[in-house]
Amino acid sequence: MAHQNGHQAYKMNFRRLRSNQHIRELAATVTVHHKEFIQPLFVDETLREREPVRHLNEVFSDTTDSIFAQVEADIAAGVTKFLLFPVPAEKFEQNFRFDFASDVVQSLKERFGADIWLANDLCLCSYTAHGHCGLLNAEGTRLLNDDTVQLLADYALHLAQAGADCIAPSDMTDGRIHAIRQKLDTHNLDHVAVMSYSSKFSSKFYGPFRDVCKSSPSAQIQLSGRSTYQISPDNLNDALASTLRDIEEGADIVMVKPALPYLDIVTRLGDQILTPIAVYHVSGEYAAVELMAENDIIERDAAHLELWTSFKRAGASIIISYAARHAKAWIHAV
Ligand code: PBG
Repeated sequence: MAHQNGHQAYKMNFRRLRSNQHIRELAATVTVHHKEFIQPLFVDETLREREPVRHLNEVFSDTTDSIFAQVEADIAAGVTKFLLFPVPAEKFEQNFRFDFASDVVQSLKERFGADIWLANDLCLCSYTAHGHCGLLNAEGTRLLNDDTVQLLADYALHLAQAGADCIAPSDMTDGRIHAIRQKLDTHNLDHVAVMSYSSKFSSKFYGPFRDVCKSSPSAQIQLSGRSTYQISPDNLNDALASTLRDIEEGADIVMVKPALPYLDIVTRLGDQILTPIAVYHVSGEYAAVELMAENDIIERDAAHLELWTSFKRAGASIIISYAARHAKAWIHAV
């Protein structure tokens, strides 16, 4: 490369900014901080003792008692934000009851109060016998949108009245954010936030999660899989439009899920919206790293941190990870 006046330009030295940890820190364009993390929690009504979740190292399905010690340990490890998945014993077709979930929320908020920020996943897949995220028609061929939305809004009200700080609908029906926001606002719960799973893809990476939540769609039902309500991996426009729609309907936080295969969506959204974007590094993605680590193929902590860094670089400001409880230690270890 030559300057206009004919002099030879300096040889570009990009390695100077890479040459030691100090200057690398100064040159960094993103950092990962443990305060940006949300830790998922599972509480299963049928359990008498907590159980480790298959393929998800150091993640447990808790009982209504053991959950307190888990949250205490997490707080001590620097986690204050949680995403709760209640798994009720009873499955329903009609007359859904949400008291198990609201009891768990209430007892956690009574115990920990403002020390924790408690979001509750809002979906019916752990409630329905068939495992779909909403009500189906009699033939079992179609998910009924508006009936599901009404039920979800009622569920949201129960959780918010029990003290949830945030409602996080993950079902992917149309119009649920509006219905939930309206329901909360008309019950003096306008302070409760809504985090929408707005770009939730029909993914193969949810396997370990569906085992814990007993939420795999039943093979007995004609409607197979979730592709009639979750977003297709090949449809960028659907993800962007669904997210913009959810913001218009009142979502305070939007989400892209899974994380790594969909970081292009995060970047595209970041260029267009001012709403905070969360990414959910889902169970299958977490398990993949853990399996590699167990087999000495990868360094566990550094690998998770590298992925978290990619989420921040793409434009996410919130990270939902099963390893949130290690974030503080791992970030400070490097
Ligand atoms: C419920 C729900 C799912 C996840 C979060 N909420 C599973 C699904 O849609 O089948 C997945 C989370 C994970 O895999 O870690 N609808």
